[in-house]
Amino acid sequence: MSKKYNRYTVTAALPYANGPLHIGHIAGAYLPADIYVRFQKLLGKDVVFVCGSDEHGAAITLRAKKEGINPQDIVDKYHEINKQAFQDFGIQFDIYDRTSNPMHKETAQEFFKQIHDKGAFFQETREQLYDPKANEFLADRYVTGECPNCGNANADGDQCEKCGSSLNATDLKNPKSSLSGETPVLKDTSHWYLPLGDHEEWLREWIEKGTYEGSQHHNPAEWKNQVIGQCKSWIDGGLGPRAITRDLDWGVKVPLQGADGKVLYVWFDAPIGYISATKTWAEANGKDWEAYWKSDDTKLVHFIGKDNIVFHCIIFPVILKLMGGYVLPDNVPANEFLNLEGDKLSTRRNWAVWLHEYLEEFPGKQDELRYVLASIAPESKDSEFTWKDYQARVNNELVGILGNFVNRALVLTNKNFEGTVPKRGELYDLDKQVIAEIDAIQARIEKNVEVYRFREALAEAMNLARAGNKYLAETEPWKLVKTDPERVGTILNLALQITANLTIALEAFLPHSAEKIRGFVNIEKLEWSKLGSIELLPEGHALSKPSLLFSKIEDQVIEAQIEKLKSNTQNTKVEAEENQEVTIEPAKDICTFDDFMKMDIRVGTILEAEKLKKSNKLLKLLVDTGLDQRTILSGIAKHYSPEEVIGKQVTVLTNLAPRKMMGIESEGMILMGEDSTGKLAFVTPENVISNGGVVR
Ligand code: 2FM
Ligand code: ZN
Repeated sequence: MSKKYNRYTVTAALPYANGPLHIGHIAGAYLPADIYVRFQKLLGKDVVFVCGSDEHGAAITLRAKKEGINPQDIVDKYHEINKQAFQDFGIQFDIYDRTSNPMHKETAQEFFKQIHDKGAFFQETREQLYDPKANEFLADRYVTGECPNCGNANADGDQCEKCGSSLNATDLKNPKSSLSGETPVLKDTSHWYLPLGDHEEWLREWIEKGTYEGSQHHNPAEWKNQVIGQCKSWIDGGLGPRAITRDLDWGVKVPLQGADGKVLYVWFDAPIGYISATKTWAEANGKDWEAYWKSDDTKLVHFIGKDNIVFHCIIFPVILKLMGGYVLPDNVPANEFLNLEGDKLSTRRNWAVWLHEYLEEFPGKQDELRYVLASIAPESKDSEFTWKDYQARVNNELVGILGNFVNRALVLTNKNFEGTVPKRGELYDLDKQVIAEIDAIQARIEKNVEVYRFREALAEAMNLARAGNKYLAETEPWKLVKTDPERVGTILNLALQITANLTIALEAFLPHSAEKIRGFVNIEKLEWSKLGSIELLPEGHALSKPSLLFSKIEDQVIEAQIEKLKSNTQNTKVEAEENQEVTIEPAKDICTFDDFMKMDIRVGTILEAEKLKKSNKLLKLLVDTGLDQRTILSGIAKHYSPEEVIGKQVTVLTNLAPRKMMGIESEGMILMGEDSTGKLAFVTPENVISNGGVVR
């Protein structure tokens, strides 16, 4: 039921220019987008791939205030760092623009003005939090406080990092201004609002059925479940009006008389940045930008992380529809989150692998990271990067399978046929089998890329190298050199055709390696339609001298990275602790060994967890203690959401006398570490051990 498209507009979320990029950003949006675009370009499609720095918003002004510098200095710095890192990593945008460019300001203002003139916004004066010390209205981001949903004491005014709920600063309990630390007061201010509720009906139909203005727009079966699920729950929850202006002196000014001191909300202007970037690109390349945004035969695809779904699937589509004549996204293949070494990636805690640092520390190893991140991308659920896994995938798969195959094919040809492609003679069964494999690969990769399954698509491309290795192992040409050189010629001819095919199959995923292999076999870049052919290298074609495609990652390199991560967080922890007064609880009286041995402490796993309606402190847990499965109430609801704790190994005091709380019997206690600032942490065994294991 897919529409016929003649043009592709592919966008990748504009990263805030307030910090560097880490592997979570890359695996979430940019690498999948780049693979998709490279693939479509290989197919010969007309594609524009746009991105750029998101230079407005409270995230940037807040950072500038904290560091006592100008927001402009921050965005200038990170725009350059990020642009360079993308380029060095091989993310091939057609344009990497900035939302501080005049073209963007003009475009965003025009959007606001046109929609305003249609009467589709309303203006209203409401109370908003105001910092009396800093003399400023506080954007949601400038306020921190206690999350009304999970009790997290450090929720941001727009979102709680812990439970993921999106918030308004006025929802927070005990709010504090991030500018001055003052408790904010409520004060009247007037803003423009977008009444999303007016659009509920068509949005629901567009999301659920893919139909738009009476005709089939896209096939919702091609959208990820989690994207549709999130959208539906937003719509089901009722779409309230959204303020689209802010009291700030940084951003795109509201283009109306009497709107001094007001700028467009960053989420109003940022997605319009895709359009202004397209305009700038079109101007520079003699293209017509409107074709890429206003033609019904243009396929618009937004690559984003899951925290951006509502903006790309609800708010921006409403803006586009209000403008009229614009296409809506055919798909928004949002990814879930990538974790790092068992923990959430966190800029604040410096728990991250930074792209620009990786590129410096692993020169020439872009494709190693591209390979690992594409293999573990959080396409349908959260996934995890560990340095050990990185090492294993590089050593076992890139070196062991791909590099090994290419190297063997080339070295054997050099040795036995003076580096030229030998003649292919009579074909045996094993030859026919491998030819069938080569032939099948194209459709298998295409099928997966079309539905944004890049992990699977890459695995299929690698299967070609696997098939090549298997073919060499089964035909054993090295044993036949003396007795049957003609047969060896046939085998190596096919092995070299596979090598040439690999340059096409891998191009979108590992472009640097594909280029290297092309150098080895001495060919130009081939188009996608050639994949599957065994006529890519003619008999007698001269090869070049190969070098190593990949090299092993040694243990000490990985250990150094793990060490670096740990010391990074240690440093940030120390800093945080220095800023926060930690006092130590006084020591308790001596207890005897016998006293201690009376306690039956075991390792257990939390199987289920739910919030209790009547309590904002307690989570009701079902714990496998090895002895049994039992219910334990734990006072951690303000610190952890149920989803976060399910599956965690913990230590449990199993023989604590049962206690009834909120009408439920709790049979034991989960042991937690707690410091004087109220920070809680599970006491978890260093390695996974069987439930029921005794702690002593
Ligand atoms: O979440 C973010 O990093 C935002 N800067 C993404 C913006 S995407 C788009 F709308 F521009
Ligand atoms: Zn929360």
